[in-house]
Amino acid sequence: MGAPGVGKGTQADLLHQRLGACHLSTGDVFRAAGKVAECDQSPAMKEALGYMRQGALVPDSTVWEMVRERLRCLNCGGGFILDGFPRTLGQAESLKQLLDSEGITLSAVLSYELSASEIVARLGGRRTCEKCKAVYHVTERPPKVEGRCDRCEGKLFQREDDRPESIKVRLETYERSTAPLIEFYKKLGLLVQVEASGTPDEIFDRTVGAMESRRMQVFAHKLWSAEENRR
Ligand code: AP5
Repeated sequence: MGAPGVGKGTQADLLHQRLGACHLSTGDVFRAAGKVAECDQSPAMKEALGYMRQGALVPDSTVWEMVRERLRCLNCGGGFILDGFPRTLGQAESLKQLLDSEGITLSAVLSYELSASEIVARLGGRRTCEKCKAVYHVTERPPKVEGRCDRCEGKLFQREDDRPESIKVRLETYERSTAPLIEFYKKLGLLVQVEASGTPDEIFDRTVGAMESRRMQVFAHKLWSAEENRR
């Protein structure tokens, strides 16, 4: 979790590459659907792409249908990372029911935090590979060859929703619809807050450190509970 541009996709990609976990980004799935010829897009997908362009959230029913189609991700041997989902309380509740019914538990919910001015600077300079979805920044993480992806030489493009008017709507939407999820996951004891300033590698190390200390706390709690039960 985290506001648009905080670096969720960058961190999810590092976690995917280094830990082998499956990376499911709802934003990437919608952008890929946008590349399909218009006559092959379903009415729900056309509607979803319209919301995206404005910076608004796609309706829960469309998002949910798309997540359900990718259920196999949740059974990936290396684990899974949900990036940009859930984003509303409705989505979080549906996800909880689904995971409970599949007997899957979340290890943690990472929430990245950064000042609004740094977020706007990150979004304004973002470039994305149209082939492999790798993310760059014109000054902070530039590709070796301008306009070309280091990994696959695909063409880099600027996202439609990175225009200033869409950025404003996305930040407001985050505060209104997604920030309340912080309390939801805090109550479930899953929230891990991570400061998102510094280089991607520094944030990655901070993420892994925070998850490790959460794992130790959970382990210590389980030991303590077992000891209490034994007594
Ligand atoms: P989505 O694709 O999820 O976008 P987002 O949440 O707005 O997040 P971003 O992808 O913009 O940013 P990010 O946090 O991943 O940052 P990044 O790593 O790219 O969703 C897009 C749209 O789809 C939504 O607006 C909505 O319409 C729809 N949608 C998706 N999911 C939905 C859902 N569940 N429900 C309803 N609607 C949904 O980094 C940003 C830039 O900063 C990059 O240029 C990067 O290189 C740079 N950067 C990253 N880390 C650093 C660093 N440490 N230092 C310097 N630069 C950095």
